[in-house]
Amino acid sequence: MTDFIRTIAVDTLVDRQPTRVLVGETPVAVVSIDGEFFAIGDRCSHADVSLSEGDVDGCALECWLHGSAFDLRTGAPLTLPAIEPVPVYATRSADHDGITYLDINPTPLDIAKGHSS
Ligand code: FES
Repeated sequence: MTDFIRTIAVDTLVDRQPTRVLVGETPVAVVSIDGEFFAIGDRCSHADVSLSEGDVDGCALECWLHGSAFDLRTGAPLTLPAIEPVPVYATRSADHDGITYLDINPTPLDIAKGHSS
């Protein structure tokens, strides 16, 4: 089991504004929505551009280049042209030396589990 990695102070995140963080060497787009945190791979599955430069619409992050929207909970593309999902990661907030950080597990979630049963 992989440990969570400390990434960014929670109070620096702006609601519904994507922020790029590094989880180890992996770029991840973090989004805070009403105190809930989401983390998805910061690379569009359609082309190699940063999703953290896109806009949040509902619970989706829209790619700035061609407009595919990715579900922040599952990484699934909701609109074309992207057809492949992007990875999603587990998040937690934790206090370190009096500051609350967003910790992210670098192992992508197995979203297939969420669709079984
Ligand atoms: S590069 Fe993201 S939708 Fe085309």
